[in-house]
Amino acid sequence: MKKLAKKEGFIDAVFGLQWGDEGKGKNIDALLQKGNYCAVARFHGGANAGHSIKLGEKTFVGHIVPSGCFHKNIEFYIGSGVVVDAVSLIKEISELKELGFDVTKRLYISNRAKLVSYLHPFLDQADEHKRSKLGAKVGTTSRGIGPAYSDVRMRRALLIGDVLLPDFEEKEKDLSEFHTNLLNMYKEKYGFEIDSVKIKEAKEKWDKSVKEMKKLQVCDSSFLIRKRLSEGKNILAEGAQAVMLDIDFGDYPNVTASNTLPANVCLGLGIPHKYLRHVYGVMKAYTTKVGGGSFPPRIKDEALEKAFQKAGNEFGATTGRSRMCGWLDLFALRYAIGLSGANKIFINKADICLTDKVKVITGYKSGGKILKEFPLYLNQVTGVITETIPGWGDANHGEKNKKKLSPELASYLNYIKKKLSDLNVKIISVGTGKDREDFFNWDK
Ligand code: IMO
Ligand code: MG
Repeated sequence: MKKLAKKEGFIDAVFGLQWGDEGKGKNIDALLQKGNYCAVARFHGGANAGHSIKLGEKTFVGHIVPSGCFHKNIEFYIGSGVVVDAVSLIKEISELKELGFDVTKRLYISNRAKLVSYLHPFLDQADEHKRSKLGAKVGTTSRGIGPAYSDVRMRRALLIGDVLLPDFEEKEKDLSEFHTNLLNMYKEKYGFEIDSVKIKEAKEKWDKSVKEMKKLQVCDSSFLIRKRLSEGKNILAEGAQAVMLDIDFGDYPNVTASNTLPANVCLGLGIPHKYLRHVYGVMKAYTTKVGGGSFPPRIKDEALEKAFQKAGNEFGATTGRSRMCGWLDLFALRYAIGLSGANKIFINKADICLTDKVKVITGYKSGGKILKEFPLYLNQVTGVITETIPGWGDANHGEKNKKKLSPELASYLNYIKKKLSDLNVKIISVGTGKDREDFFNWDK
C-alpha cells in the first residue's frame, strides 16, 4: 500500500500595516478562538510592543509575553529574533498568574533570543537626549530596543541561553562596563546625566528578574516549533510594531530597530519559509503614529485630532503618550501591502468616525509633483491628495452584524476594497469596539 505523505502544519503571520497600535492583539485573540492554532510566537522586537486584551472585567496589558494569554491551551514562544526584557517578562507572568492564567509551563523562550540589559534603557534615553539637541528625536519607547539590537549586530549581546552558563556573570560585567563607558561619554559630550540611585535600582530589579528567568523554559525553540509543525499543528506568528516602522523599509530613522515585515518570521523563529501560509495584515480605519518624524495623513484640525484620540483611546499602552491621528492613508497602505504580501486584512476601530465626512489620503506630493513611488524620506512629502466621502458619525459602536451597518460605513469598506482590488487582498473582519466580541466578518 502507498504510504500517505505526512500532513505538516503552517505558520500564519499577524502584523501591523500602519505605524503600530492597530489592535493586533485583538485579532490574534479572535483567530485563536477558532481553535486552529496550537501556539503564538513572537519573532522580533521586545517590550516596546503593547497589546491590551479585555476579557469581561479583566484587562491585561502585555509587552513581551505573546498575545493570546487568555487561552488556556495555547503555547507561547519567544523566538531568537526577540530582545527580551527580563523585568517585563517576569512582571507579566506574575500579573497573568494573578488573573488566573499560569503560562510558565506553556512558555518557551529561545536560548538564542537576546537579553535586554539593565543599562540598555538608559542608553536609549541618552541617545534620544543627544538627538534632541538636533531636534531629531526618534521618540523611542525608552525600552532599550535600539541599544539591544546594536549590541546584537556588534556581537557582544548576552543571549538568553547565557543566563544558564557558568560565565554569565563575567560576560554581564564586561558588557555593563562597556555600557557604563558609553554612558560616561554621553555625560561628558552631551550632558546626559543619570541619577546613580536609579541605575542601582534598575540593576537590583534586573538581577532579581534574571534569576527568576532561570526557572523558565529556555530551549531551542526553533526545534520545538518545527516539531509542532511536523506534527501537523499550526502556529500564529505575532508581529509587533508595523511595516511603516520596519528598520529597512519604514521612514528611517524614525523606525524601530528590527524588521517588522512578515519576511522576518522565518529568521526570527528559525523555520524554513515553506511553512509560511496566510499573511494577515492589521490596520485601523484611520491612521495613528507615535514618536518622531513626519506623518503625512495627520488631521490638521487640532480639535478633531483630539476628539479621535479620545474616542479611539489613542494613548500608548507602553508609554502613555498620545498618538497623532490621521485619516486613512491608502498610499502608505498600498506600499505596506505590496512589501508584506498581506493577503488577508483586518480593519479595526471602524466605529470611530466622529464626522459626517471623512477624508482618505490617496497620494503624496513632493515639490509640486505627484509621487508614483513611496518616498525615501517622509519629510520629502509636501502635500497629500485626498478624497472626501460620507462619514458615519457616532453610529456602529459594537456592531456585530454586517447587515445592520450604517450605509456610510458599508460604502467606506467597499471603497477601501475597491482601492485595494488590484492587490489581491480580502477584508476578513471589521472591528467596532473594545470588547473581544465587537467585530463582524466582511469578505467570505
Ligand atoms: P505595537 O506593537 C507604535 C515606535 C516608537 C518610536 C519608534 C522607535 O504596540 O504596535 P523603539 O522603542 O522601538 O526604538 O521606538 O517606534 N514604536 C511603536 N509605535 N506601536 C508600537 O508597538 C511601537 N513600538 C515602537 O514610538 O517612534
Ligand atoms: Mg503600541
